[in-house]
Amino acid sequence: MGEGLTFDDVLLVPRLSNIVSRSQVNLTTYLTREIKLNIPILSASMDTVTESKMAIAIAREGGLGVIHRFMPIDRQVEEVAKVKRAENVIIEDPITIRPESKVKEAKRLMEKWGISGLLVVDDHKRLLGIVSRRDVLFENDGKEVREVMTPRAKLIVAEKKIGLEEAKDMFRKYKIEKIPIVDNDDRLIGLITARDVVNRTMNPRALKDSKGRLMVGAAIGVRGDYLERAKKLWKAGVDVIFIDVAHGHSTLVIDAIKKVKAELKEAPVIAGNVATSEGVEDLVKAGADGVKVGVGPGSVCTTRVVTGAGIPQLTAIMECAKAGRKLDVPIIADGGIRKSGDLVKALAAGASSVMIGNLLAGTDESPGPLIFRNGKRYKIYRGMASFYAMLGKEMQERYEVEDLIDMSYKAEGVEAYVPYRGSVREVLEQLISGLRSGMSYCGASNIKELQEKALFIKITHAAYLEGLPHDVEGLT
Ligand code: XMP
Repeated sequence: MGEGLTFDDVLLVPRLSNIVSRSQVNLTTYLTREIKLNIPILSASMDTVTESKMAIAIAREGGLGVIHRFMPIDRQVEEVAKVKRAENVIIEDPITIRPESKVKEAKRLMEKWGISGLLVVDDHKRLLGIVSRRDVLFENDGKEVREVMTPRAKLIVAEKKIGLEEAKDMFRKYKIEKIPIVDNDDRLIGLITARDVVNRTMNPRALKDSKGRLMVGAAIGVRGDYLERAKKLWKAGVDVIFIDVAHGHSTLVIDAIKKVKAELKEAPVIAGNVATSEGVEDLVKAGADGVKVGVGPGSVCTTRVVTGAGIPQLTAIMECAKAGRKLDVPIIADGGIRKSGDLVKALAAGASSVMIGNLLAGTDESPGPLIFRNGKRYKIYRGMASFYAMLGKEMQERYEVEDLIDMSYKAEGVEAYVPYRGSVREVLEQLISGLRSGMSYCGASNIKELQEKALFIKITHAAYLEGLPHDVEGLT
């Protein structure tokens, strides 16, 4: 019988370090042999974690979001398309308003789309002016937009599609915030906003494809229309397809990898989840370009309780990473990351990156509203094999009571509240800061070096407690 260890069972042994500045630490890593990430973090393909908003936020920080698959194909495709469009310098289809519309309508549109101005056009899309928030702020709601807008004659426009540098020059020269683009007939064909340009330049480590668009992953299953889903996602520009099932070491997954690879020769495919080196070998042999590791470590998983099966995550990572190294395929550690120390240990144990659900589910960018309980803020987080997640809205109608009872027995996850944690950027900054320090304690200036130099020491429960704050009283 082997031994199974997880993050809290071990510590990393501090080693001689020549890292004098944390900025010396390089956090780039590989997702597949070809795809490089700028930070080693992925957001989980769960319906309370990753849709386009999360994927955009995490890609801007240098990681990758994986859009979940628990929605109709067309919606998932649209979510992918939103990410691919997010960093366009040119907005091809800006929000417009008619000159005869009322100020009230202009305010409503600005509020709805979260924008600070609208382009005013006629029936033929000819540009007539711009109405900005400033123009309507103290105006009578009943006035017409034409009375308060800045007219066309006073506008600085571009007469053809321009690039980023040219746009920056114009913003600088004319001290404006919006550049409408018009064709020879003065018809509106696009818009560049200073905000988008700032977003692009403010995120130097953003993860971009060869065309300068943010990168994104999307999950598929192994049953029903999964192949059609894969094809449509690929067409929409997805960068990596994740074949994502709870027990990934299965013939269904092996077949699915082969089929997707046969159909979409260029598409990078990551498959999982597995927890053994044989699992990694079988999926890589079938064609996987990366393998996701984790059976039961997730914070909302009950797989181990319900089925008695699973492998503690640190041991699973170590075993799978051995196979990954042999086959030259990166491993993603999925689930169970609660603090930055766990992230350092997962990478040191051989994972090239980690996938995170819980810590990101409480951010502004996860789907779902904020919930107030006893004066505190929370968001909802649920396992994808939890009863309500399996049930889904559309499914509800199709099931008989007996099916529902059966399903409730099969659930391998729970629904829960997680504390509100602010923005994705704040959460990632904490994780990354801990990672940089942890790497410095190991004397590692990059992730490969971390893996080579890492020495783990197994600890007792008393030693674990020693590492927590103790013998002090909290201030609250
Ligand atoms: P964390 O610990 O970050 O883990 O919340 C996220 C990962 O948990 C997995 N997951 C599940 N596992 N039953 C399970 O056994 C479930 O219902 C379930 N939902 C998600 C998944 O791998 C995710 O990335």
